[in-house]
Order: sequence, then C-alpha cells, then structure tokens
Amino acid sequence: MKLLIVYYSTFGNVYKMARLVAEGASEVKGVEPVLRTVVELMPESLIESRPDMKAGKQMQRDVPLVTLEDFKEAGAIAFGTPTRFGNVSAQLKNQIDQLSSLWLKGEFEGKPAGVFVSTASLHGGQETTIYTLMASLLHLGMIVVGVPYSVQELFTTAGGGSPYGPGHIAGQDNLRAVDKEEAAICRVFGRRLARIGKQLSNA
Ligand SMILES: Cc1cc2nc3c(=O)[nH]c(=O)nc-3n(C[C@H](O)[C@H](O)[C@H](O)COP(=O)(O)O)c2cc1C
Repeated sequence: MKLLIVYYSTFGNVYKMARLVAEGASEVKGVEPVLRTVVELMPESLIESRPDMKAGKQMQRDVPLVTLEDFKEAGAIAFGTPTRFGNVSAQLKNQIDQLSSLWLKGEFEGKPAGVFVSTASLHGGQETTIYTLMASLLHLGMIVVGVPYSVQELFTTAGGGSPYGPGHIAGQDNLRAVDKEEAAICRVFGRRLARIGKQLSNA
C-alpha cells in the first residue's frame, strides 16, 4: 500500500515533518511512503530575494510534484501545510482544488487521511488550520485520522502536536528545529495512517 505524503513548505519545516511522517509509515510492513510536494505560487523573484526561502526550497529540490496518479494509487494520504493567517497555505489548497475529476469518481471515498502543520508561534493557528483542511477531506469522502492520547508526547510537548494532528512551532525566524516530542508525534501519525490504510484496503 502506498501512503502519499503531500505537502507544501516555504522554509523547510513542513518538509522535515513530512520526512518524519514517512519514517513512521515505513515501519509498517508492506507500506511504501511516497513523498510529494505541490506547485509554488509565489513569484520566483520573491524567493530569490530571500535567502531563508531560497535555503528552504533548496532543501526540497529533489521532491517531485504530486500527480493525480499519486492520489489515485494512495491507500492513505497525509497532508502537510504551514499556517497562513490561521489557515491552510494557498499552495496546498490550490492542489486540493484540482482534485475534482478524482472526487467525481469517488476515488477518495473511504481512504484515511490526516493533516500535519507548522506555525511560527504556539497559538498561531495549528488547530484552526488542521480543522479547516479536515472539512475538505470530509468533502472528498475521506476518513479523518488524528493522534490518540495513548501517545504520551501529547501530554509533554512544549511545542506542537495535538489530537488533531502533528504540529511544529518553527519560531519567528522559522529556524526552530523539530524537537523530540514533535518528531515522535510525526512518526506515530505516519505509522497510524499506514496501519489504518492497510487495514481498510486489505493490503
Ligand atoms: C503569509 C504568512 C502568513 C502566516 N501566518 C501565520 C499564522 O497565522 N500563524 C503562525 O503562527 N504563523 C504564521 N506564519 C508563519 C508560518 O506558519 C511559518 O513560516 C511556517 O510554519 C514555516 O513552515 P515552512 O518552513 O514549512 O515554510 C505565516 C507566514 C506567512 C508567510
């Protein structure tokens, strides 16, 4: 079974989370994590003018763009996004808005999916972002997956991560590393989605 991890990241934080989600998924026998990103919507000139954005993009230069085939083949999907004014990034939403042909065929129905997120600040909108994106997942017919409280790190995290999904606090300069608890929650989430996807697809 393929677990598609499709994300958008400007400075590299969500990319790092995506890799941790993939790490967790790969622990499940018979599951292949597929890491994909989406089309950038910011002008190249803006990225070129910002060394921090350039470095973030450079980090992910080898990640392929997601295709409709990737969505079709996936038995489970993890969506990763940075928060933009308490909401989903336009880049990821733009990709979701191009899924109607598959949606009309019911391709997403019954597939498990979840959301992971990065914000600059602790109360910057992790939960609103995840919740907002969950509405789209429900419209697509997907089964929403979060993180249960049997995951001890949910009690101890001083950064991101909640029952709604993995989270990371990147800080105002976007340089705060994904910490131990945040990383553990990303891995558990990947593993959980992989297991549920496998069960549901009888893979
Ligand atoms: C236009 C814009 C809006 C943002 N809005 C928020 C916000 O509402 N709350 C917050 O905590 N961080 C906000 N941020 C910070 C981003 O969430 C942060 O840069 C991101 O989590 C880093 O992830 P990345 O390294 O994968 O790009 C915003 C950043 C930009 C550029």
